[in-house]
Amino acid sequence: MEEIRMDAVGILYGDIHPTLVNCSVSGKLRQGDYVKLKHHEDGWVLGKVDAIEAKTNLSIEKSYQIMEGNNVEIQQTISAQIVVIGYLDHKGILQYPRTPFLAGTPVYLADDDFISSTLNVGVGKKGRAYIGLIYGHSIPFSIDINSMVQKHISVMAKTGGGKSYLTGVIIEELIKNDVTVVVIDPHGEYGSMKNKASDSEEMKRFSIHPASYGSRIVTYSPDHGDEKLTFTLSQINVKELVSIMNLSDPKSYVLPLRKAIDAIRLSSRDYDFDDVIKELKRQDDSSLSQTLEKELMYLKSLNVLGKRGLRVDELVSKGKVSIIEMKGLPPDMQELIVQRLLYALFEARKKERIPPLLVVVEEAHNFAPQQGKAFSSKIMRTVASEGRKFGFGLLVVSQRPAKVDKNVLSQCGTQLILKVTNPNDLKAIGNSVEGLTNSSLDEIQRLPVGTSLVASPELPIPLFIEVRPRETDDGGKNVRVVR
Ligand SMILES: Nc1ncnc2c1ncn2[C@@H]1O[C@H](COP(=O)(O)OP(=O)(O)O)[C@@H](O)[C@H]1O
Ligand SMILES: [Mg+2]
Repeated sequence: MEEIRMDAVGILYGDIHPTLVNCSVSGKLRQGDYVKLKHHEDGWVLGKVDAIEAKTNLSIEKSYQIMEGNNVEIQQTISAQIVVIGYLDHKGILQYPRTPFLAGTPVYLADDDFISSTLNVGVGKKGRAYIGLIYGHSIPFSIDINSMVQKHISVMAKTGGGKSYLTGVIIEELIKNDVTVVVIDPHGEYGSMKNKASDSEEMKRFSIHPASYGSRIVTYSPDHGDEKLTFTLSQINVKELVSIMNLSDPKSYVLPLRKAIDAIRLSSRDYDFDDVIKELKRQDDSSLSQTLEKELMYLKSLNVLGKRGLRVDELVSKGKVSIIEMKGLPPDMQELIVQRLLYALFEARKKERIPPLLVVVEEAHNFAPQQGKAFSSKIMRTVASEGRKFGFGLLVVSQRPAKVDKNVLSQCGTQLILKVTNPNDLKAIGNSVEGLTNSSLDEIQRLPVGTSLVASPELPIPLFIEVRPRETDDGGKNVRVVR
């Protein structure tokens, strides 16, 4: 039998499964701690405390005696359930023991070197995005950038849980690695990334320095961005146009509008709303066309659709972050923008007219809803399922995982989960994340802002990560922090 060192925190006892063991706790051991224990054939093996519980012999009757001031002798034992993660074999591949550990085996707290080498968290490797530190340790954690672009990634949490902050961290890493990024930004939160964050003590712990990436970021918006966000009106089909108007009977307007547009097309390929209104007036003066005129004026005022839209190769170039600010635009116009944009980007990427890229979709439940349909539903699905073949990655962000199209979510190889409390959302997460134990699901409900669970096929088990501070201004200061 293995000699027991002074710093042992517990001893294996009871029923022992190859991947799940019980340990009596005598030293300092907390839920979530990483431990190591020696297997008689395979050597040191890494494990993690999944659950910890005290058993006592104090009955409810005896508890009343304490209340009455009597001395009662209590026996208390602490037991921990340990999930066996595994060990690296001689080829560096993670394996777990095929035979049970021996009862009586001592359990020790694992040191940082052993944890980081066994978990393969990418310390020292290139082409990776540094996200933060393994919770409770000083071990840097990173995600492979190629796998992000090829296999998509999701960021889920309740409102105020830190999704946009974490997404900003990822974008900073993509910028440093020269990856091309497009951000669908419905709330105008990402433009602040042009500015440096202010220095803080916390940054030292994570080896982070304030930085600004102003020269790499371009914002696009209908009226106040660095560049004007415009799409070509002639590329929007009549049915789509009518359906984003505020009409009680949209179908009846399709014909008159089509007639007007067909007439314009006889003389010119491109046109704007003024051209359409003029043509409508010329053709007839019914109440139908007057209503249509009013709606066309409204769409014109949104300042998004015009004679000539942005070309994708103007919008996207290698290593640039293009932020599509849609704040203030009505939801259906936002969906239409996402649809046009993703479609154009996907076609351009297939023909290799633009570099491989990652598209961040905030509020993904609006652009790829599980129930009902958005203009962008179809292209979101297409990109989710086919994007990997073309180097077209998605980063989907949502506060309602249960409301995001399963066909999109299930394609995300890496999942980042911050605090979630809604039971339906927890269920959706439990169903979609492999290897998530009940106690991890329980922990997700209690996570402090800034701690994320990370699950990916690269990792043997989902890990809790303390998200690193932002290098850039996160612009979310006026959002209430939920704890
Ligand atoms: N890792 C973190 N470190 C420090 N502050 C954070 C962190 N994550 C989030 N916050 C703060 O918490 C608030 C909410 O974060 P935010 O990313 O806007 O949440 P969400 O997008 O999920 O609604 C913001 O004020 C943000 O600055
Ligand atoms: Mg947000």
